[in-house]
Amino acid sequence: MNENEFIYKKDNSTVLEDGSFAWRAPSNIALVKYWGKREVQLPENPSISFTLSNCFTETTLEFKKNNSLKVVDFGEYESTSRAASFRIYLDGKEKPEFSDKIGSFLTRIGKLVPFISDYDFVIKTHNSFPHSSGIASSASGMAALSLCIMSMEKALNPSMSEAQFYQKASLLARLGSGSAARSIKGELVVWGQHSSIQGSSDQFGVAFPHEMHENFKNYQDTILLVDKGEKVVSSTVGHNLMHGHPFAQQRFAQANENLSKLSEILQNGDLEAFVNLVESEALTLHAMMMTSNPYFILMKPNTLQIIDKIWKFRTETGSNVCFTLDAGANVHVLFPEKEKVRVNDFIARELVDFCQKNEYISDSVGSGAKQM
Ligand code: PMV
Repeated sequence: MNENEFIYKKDNSTVLEDGSFAWRAPSNIALVKYWGKREVQLPENPSISFTLSNCFTETTLEFKKNNSLKVVDFGEYESTSRAASFRIYLDGKEKPEFSDKIGSFLTRIGKLVPFISDYDFVIKTHNSFPHSSGIASSASGMAALSLCIMSMEKALNPSMSEAQFYQKASLLARLGSGSAARSIKGELVVWGQHSSIQGSSDQFGVAFPHEMHENFKNYQDTILLVDKGEKVVSSTVGHNLMHGHPFAQQRFAQANENLSKLSEILQNGDLEAFVNLVESEALTLHAMMMTSNPYFILMKPNTLQIIDKIWKFRTETGSNVCFTLDAGANVHVLFPEKEKVRVNDFIARELVDFCQKNEYISDSVGSGAKQM
């Protein structure tokens, strides 16, 4: 599907002067990782993630029609002559330092939602997880803001179907932060075109189209906060490392194969195969960063200590607990709901000491964004 098919078509009968919309959008954790992109925010390989439940962003978008003409160059994405104006608040405090990111996002989506240039906005946002937890808020944040903008479009164009609404919300979110495309729906979301996932697209995320085995229902994700600092390598720098990377093509082919395998596993409930594939994906992501130039090691000594403990625990107890990693040092500990008591006890006894200030977040698979 071509991006131009998503351009807003004006319905002259509806007037929207002022008001507000609010959405809660979840974070997500990738099982098959997206690493490497081409213009504009299109993935070099398909990815799949669990939608989370407790880690989310809540955003209220207040809007008021403006009449001032602001002449702005929208570059290659835009032909309208006005830019959206906005102020942004996090937990009640104005955050001018977020303006560049939000401004370029609004500029980038301007061609698809040109009505935004007719309004002045106040964006009020809150994350359920601490700002300095080392957990990126870009996926849930971009998804929540995109959904608010889509609520405006829906108000202006009520004939839009629910499917179109969510597809375009995911597409807008993707233009803010790639993995945000996967933060609209639950419980499993695929982003990126793949032959075994019907309806999948590089443009937007889609709900996993098959029945998920009950072994994965309410799957647990405990996020161990090993390093709560800012990311050492920004996503943009990281993805760019895949340009000219000696193993890039093999990696993209492997991600495609892994998604085929994981699609089967998620349907047949093979936990052993799940553990193997998910951990291999996490380590491959980090291997890509270690073998690029410039090269990075984003794991910390405590990340490795935790991995070692998880492997020992699995060998000793036959548990299906496993880990995955984002592009950082924090560890996501994944396990089936029926192992909750035993694994929580293991985490409290053996893993929490490796977290900064003993901090961690207990989460589980969630069902997607909600309007508030
Ligand atoms: O959405 P971005 O550009 O921040 O990229 C996220 C990439 C990983 O989190 C490392 C993997 C993924 O698929 O979420």
